[in-house]
Amino acid sequence: MVTEPPPLPPMDGETIDESSEDEATQFASVDPLDKIRSSYDIVAERYALELADDMARRPIDRGMLLSFSELVHELAGTPVTPVTPGVAAGSVVGRVDAPLVGDVGCGPAHIAKHLTTLGLRVVGYDISVAMIKQARVKFPEGELFVASMYQLPVPTAAWTGAVSIWATLHCNVDERLRSFKEIHRVVKQGGYFLHSFYVSAPDQPEGSTYHLTKWFGHAVDLMTYFVGIEDAAAEMDRSGFDVMAALVREPISANELPARRCYMLGKRR
Ligand SMILES: C[S@@+](CC[C@H](N)C(=O)[O-])C[C@H]1O[C@@H](n2cnc3c(N)ncnc32)[C@H](O)[C@@H]1O
Repeated sequence: MVTEPPPLPPMDGETIDESSEDEATQFASVDPLDKIRSSYDIVAERYALELADDMARRPIDRGMLLSFSELVHELAGTPVTPVTPGVAAGSVVGRVDAPLVGDVGCGPAHIAKHLTTLGLRVVGYDISVAMIKQARVKFPEGELFVASMYQLPVPTAAWTGAVSIWATLHCNVDERLRSFKEIHRVVKQGGYFLHSFYVSAPDQPEGSTYHLTKWFGHAVDLMTYFVGIEDAAAEMDRSGFDVMAALVREPISANELPARRCYMLGKRR
């Protein structure tokens, strides 16, 4: 179902128009992936500035990432890195014996960076060249590359787990299934997949779509999909993952889009 979207309440900075005429006309391309790539290329710097250092203020999100990392360690037979609340654990960057996981649609790589502090070796992929550039600035030791979530340059069953955090927001159901099946291919049997997505927002029911045309003051062209929890669980199941847990949270900061969100954890069959 597609609803006519009333505007979402603006995020910080959204009302300031920093777009140029060039920006507004560049979305003439009809390829949805090009629109996503171009949109994130434009907002990458602001996105990284506003959101990439937020992990310390996201205890709920960190809880799900910790659960994911512990399950991955259990499967890999590697020791869980002890985490003292408020104290950063040692990073495993450069350690090849740590379990390998992927961050699909990694953006500025703050999730990838956080997961390395939990003892995982993380490789991050994103379709936006500008995002990967920001990611390499924010996380210079990281293994971060440009690639599409539909065609990961990764051997079959190479990863013990994968995360895809707010990265399928602009995918319709067919595109989400395509991405999940690709993630299913690269995650080994029994491995884990942590996916997060928007459930609903004021005036945006589950299953509706919102056309985001301005973000951080820039012209963008991003269809944004809200997915009900049962539908998301069915999509995971269809893609070969048994759903283990789903955590719903409300937006927690002014620079997040004001949407109810869900983290869903699955185990690969
Ligand atoms: C909302 S951001 C989330 C970034 C990061 N995971 C985070 O938690 O902040 C969505 C990211 O997904 C990337 N993305 C969207 N579609 C993609 C695709 N088909 N393949 C790879 N990356 C994609 C975008 O370029 C963008 O960096």
